[in-house]
Amino acid sequence: MYNFDEIVDRRNTESVKWDLYPGALPMWVADMDFRIAPEIQEALQRRLDHGVFGYELVPDSYFEAIGRWFSRRHGWEGILRENIVPTTGVIAAYSAAIKAMTVPGDKVLVQTPCYNAFFPAIRNNKCVQLENPLHYEDGLYTIDWEDFEDKVSQARVFLLCNPHNPAGRVWTREELERMGEICLRHKVFVVADEIHCELTYPGHDYTPWATLPEELVRNSVSCISPTKAFNIAGIQIANIFAKDPEILKKMDRAINDNECCDVNVFGVTALQAAYNQGEAWLDQLRGYLWHNARTVYCFLEDELPGITAPPLEGTYLMWLDCRGVMHPREPLEGFSERFAEQLKKHGLVLSTGTIYGAAGEGFERLNIACPRTVLLEGLRRLKETVEQY
Ligand SMILES: Cc1ncc(COP(=O)(O)O)c(C=O)c1O
Repeated sequence: MYNFDEIVDRRNTESVKWDLYPGALPMWVADMDFRIAPEIQEALQRRLDHGVFGYELVPDSYFEAIGRWFSRRHGWEGILRENIVPTTGVIAAYSAAIKAMTVPGDKVLVQTPCYNAFFPAIRNNKCVQLENPLHYEDGLYTIDWEDFEDKVSQARVFLLCNPHNPAGRVWTREELERMGEICLRHKVFVVADEIHCELTYPGHDYTPWATLPEELVRNSVSCISPTKAFNIAGIQIANIFAKDPEILKKMDRAINDNECCDVNVFGVTALQAAYNQGEAWLDQLRGYLWHNARTVYCFLEDELPGITAPPLEGTYLMWLDCRGVMHPREPLEGFSERFAEQLKKHGLVLSTGTIYGAAGEGFERLNIACPRTVLLEGLRRLKETVEQY
């Protein structure tokens, strides 16, 4: 048994999450407050004890670990060394994929509200952002298919987030296939960001894009990494998978053009330890996070009826619909920002909904990957803010 209730003091450790807002409780950026799996820590310690950290070749065992993991856990067969380009992070991965598959001025489609770092990657590659806002009704997010096809028909690349941050959706095989078929029909290349793939909850299984029909897989790359699920984001390691060797060559070229092809020695060690020995820790973590999510739902229902949250199917990022907190004649525009400011005054930092696009107005994102006592303190501060808003 691992102890996810343990409080690890992260203040004054140069943590982005904790040290950018000293004094406040940070429940914003997507990393977890849990100590990593001891199996990973021991593997890193052994690597550290060697005492020499020169440039490293990525060994076959690294690719074998990825292949075994995705085959065993997710039914994704046949990942080989020849299908993978390692890189320093998932942002580096999808940014290189956009670079490889577009020319300046091309349009890249995203489903908003979406992960905020999608936007600069599109801009930095001199492309134009196109949005397919997700449809939000009765507390559920779905795809507006008519709008999706219309936008796809104008795009060069579709940047998919599966599972979706921040909407919390784990897309079903049917939804993914439908997206893939529409993209194929319009010759739009799919870049699947699957960084949150391990963190799904009962009744919602992650479908790897690469397990869709062959012609859809050939029209795509998948960007994967163990960093979110195993809380090693600061170690920075990720992989681009492509079925088609010609596509993989393009990815390799773009990764080299962007000079992010040399990976961190600790990343190579940590990934193998995570995929080879981290399973028991991950399964317990998923249970703990699910319990945290239910704690939030109960709290909202009992204590904060002005705030609701769509069902969390995946990720540890809860998307809070805070519009019920607004004053009767208060304009929606700017509310997320105003409410987030008030939260900070009450010592709680959430991610402001509008950083995920205009579709995030009225929402705030809550990171629940922390010990339960910390979560409850965050919820107390949320309630205090609402009462005094
Ligand atoms: C959807 C998504 N992609 C990518 C990242 C960041 O990936 P990396 O740190 O590997 O660049 C995040 C981090 O929260 C994310 O939510």
